[in-house]
Amino acid sequence: MVATDRAPYLLALRLAGRRVVVAGGGNVAARRVPALLDAGAEVIVISPGLSPALDDLATGGRIAWTAREYASGDCAGAWLVCACTDDPAVNAAIAAEADAARIWCVRADDAAASRAWTPEVRVGVLTGDPRRSAGIRDALVGALSSGAVGARRGRRRNGGVALVGGGPGDPGLITVRGRALLAEADVVVADRLAPQSLLAELPADVEIVDAAKIPRGRAMAQEYINSVLVSRARAGRFVVRLKGGDPFVFGRGAEELLACLRAGIAVTVVPGVSSAIAVPGIAGVPLTHRGVVQEFHVISAHVPPGDERSTVDWAALGPSPATLVLLMATEHLQLITDALMRHGRDPKSPVSVIADGTLPTQRKITATLDTVAHDAAEAGIRPPAVVVVGEVVTIAAQIAELCSSPADGAPGGTFLPRDRPAQVNGAAHGNDLVRRPAQ
Ligand SMILES: C[S@@+](CC[C@H](N)C(=O)[O-])C[C@H]1O[C@@H](n2cnc3c(N)ncnc32)[C@H](O)[C@@H]1O
Repeated sequence: MVATDRAPYLLALRLAGRRVVVAGGGNVAARRVPALLDAGAEVIVISPGLSPALDDLATGGRIAWTAREYASGDCAGAWLVCACTDDPAVNAAIAAEADAARIWCVRADDAAASRAWTPEVRVGVLTGDPRRSAGIRDALVGALSSGAVGARRGRRRNGGVALVGGGPGDPGLITVRGRALLAEADVVVADRLAPQSLLAELPADVEIVDAAKIPRGRAMAQEYINSVLVSRARAGRFVVRLKGGDPFVFGRGAEELLACLRAGIAVTVVPGVSSAIAVPGIAGVPLTHRGVVQEFHVISAHVPPGDERSTVDWAALGPSPATLVLLMATEHLQLITDALMRHGRDPKSPVSVIADGTLPTQRKITATLDTVAHDAAEAGIRPPAVVVVGEVVTIAAQIAELCSSPADGAPGGTFLPRDRPAQVNGAAHGNDLVRRPAQ
């Protein structure tokens, strides 16, 4: 009995000059033998008949052929046995005999009952540098497990829609599930703020609908997007609606979910990393800080204060000590800051504006409430940008002070200390474990 609850131990065999017995001469054996020959194995095929390909090899003297059924004792002297007959009972008997003789046996018909397997795909990483090889191997394993590699072949999906939050723009900030579903898509309907570089990786036959280029008004465009989701899914295609940040944070995700459900289409929702939190975070602007502030409000400012379409209570936000996170605010920044000051916010409240957060073009400016509209315009800040108002911006200043440039937080999210202490094994200078680097 083979224990299948344990992970197999991966091993590569150098078979040059070693005897390998292949029981069976059909197509399954024909698929295994060439790789054995490439490895230099001495291959003996035991079978009453041979497939044309194996027959060629036998005729050319590249394999030895014993023209009969496998008989007990045939595996003697072999280093490896491949049980490739079309009779599971025969394969089981061969495997049992090999096991008793301590010879590794690959059963072609039943991997679970097999002591050894031959992988369908071989991935060899040999760079000459073991650490680099290990890094590449880990990346491949990650790509396989995330679905980024090979997901569409053999998948069982039939239609349906996935509403996937793509994160704030850096392709590394989509979730593992979002990435895996993207790799399975037949159709991708993508927003402008969705991570564009992920689209470049999709196979050529994936239909990409650029939702930013739909040439209609906002309402019509949304209706058109809904109809694309429904029609493609009804045609049996798997549609990923790839959105910036999180689908349900000012993303109209619920409208799309409702439209699909009303049309009888199943929808998978994959939350995303919202720019409201991630963009300040990666720029070193916390939204809360112990003893400073314990609440934050996320506000869509796409319509300005005073606009009849606005549902934001600016009068309540003005005197509140909460951190304010304003999205879509750059266009109306003067009106917004005026309203906040009118309703009681200190004109000297610190403000950060972060544009293109998490992207290589990320920029941050810091100002006060009474100057930020002017300063942002002067600095040429354009959407997409997140505006953070509140005392937490002073914590951001403390973080920036400790960092080497750029002080606005590297897009990759790594903050480098200005004066690096000697550091070994993660222990800081002053700790007993510290060993100074060799001079
Ligand atoms: C329509 S809202 C969509 C928000 C999105 N659903 C989310 O959760 O991040 C678009 C606004 O999000 C903000 N935004 C999105 N991505 C951003 C980024 N990479 N940098 C700065 N702001 C961003 C900007 O305020 C932009 O105008």
